[in-house]
Amino acid sequence: MPAYPSNNGVLFPAPLQAKPFPMKKLRKAVFPVAGLGTRFLPATKAIPKEMLTVVDRPVIQYVVDEAREAGIEHFIFVTGRNKAVIEDHFDIQFELNHTLAQRGKDDQLARLQQLQPQAGQTSFTRQQEPLGLGHAVWCARDLVGDEPFAVLLPDMITLPGKGCMKDMVALYEKTGDNIIAVEECDPAETQKYGIVGKGDDVFNGFKLTGMVEKPKAGTAPSNLYINGRYILQPEVFGLLSRQERGAGNEIQLTDAMQKLMKEQSFFGYHYRGRTFDCGSPEGFVEANVAFALQRSDLNSDMADVIDGLLAEARPADKRRA
Ligand code: UTP
Repeated sequence: MPAYPSNNGVLFPAPLQAKPFPMKKLRKAVFPVAGLGTRFLPATKAIPKEMLTVVDRPVIQYVVDEAREAGIEHFIFVTGRNKAVIEDHFDIQFELNHTLAQRGKDDQLARLQQLQPQAGQTSFTRQQEPLGLGHAVWCARDLVGDEPFAVLLPDMITLPGKGCMKDMVALYEKTGDNIIAVEECDPAETQKYGIVGKGDDVFNGFKLTGMVEKPKAGTAPSNLYINGRYILQPEVFGLLSRQERGAGNEIQLTDAMQKLMKEQSFFGYHYRGRTFDCGSPEGFVEANVAFALQRSDLNSDMADVIDGLLAEARPADKRRA
């Protein structure tokens, strides 16, 4: 079996059935944004949940920025009805840019331009019915083609500069094949998540021994949950094209990945940063507070505001004590 040197010169055996090196460069990312966002109704009745703002930018912008920082060159959005505003967000607004320039609002204009994808860097396709995450990813098959691709769930955002995808790409460039990012959850809550089994450490990740969607209490192989970041090989599309229904009668990405595991290697990347689940009101509010506290221009004001609000919210007897 061939061996590959690690950063510190130690030789690791090549992972079983890894793609021949050098593997194809990761250039494309898929953003499934066709879900109904029912946990966020009524806010999401007319506005996509991906366009709800955390501090001063929509949730989807953070995820696209994370992908761009990781070297992704093409951004593929799987949208649905009522989601056209996402396409507008990533387009140039000529009138707005012109007005900002005329009014001398150069900082705001520069900020918009910095976030603007280049012409031809975005693609949009529609998932006509929300049949599940696996089905949404499958809708991107022609846009992805025969190359590896990333999937980033826009609900899950990481603090700026601490993105998970960049480290996943670094792992992928050593191992090839498929990478899934995981984080630790409370062992009592594993039944809420997709949970992975952990094998031997490999480079800055580990070999994945299995995965299970929402395991019954007491049956989870670990407390490492899939946090919404994936690097996958295009062979997953063939498995998704079977359109087999899984949990919740939806076409599940986890089911297709489980089948792909029989043919290709999967590696886990243990992300040590913090992910906020903006698909739920609690996670979204928490993200707004955390992101505001991280911003140097808002930090001190926000800390005072939060202290004041906490003091007001405390019961009167506790306040006196
Ligand atoms: P979620 O299950 O968190 O999103 O899917 P949802 O269905 O919109 O949310 P709730 O449960 O009704 O509140 C994770 C991601 O997968 C996308 C969602 O848009 C979200 O980004 N998704 C899910 C699709 O694109 N299509 C689907 O059929 C399902």
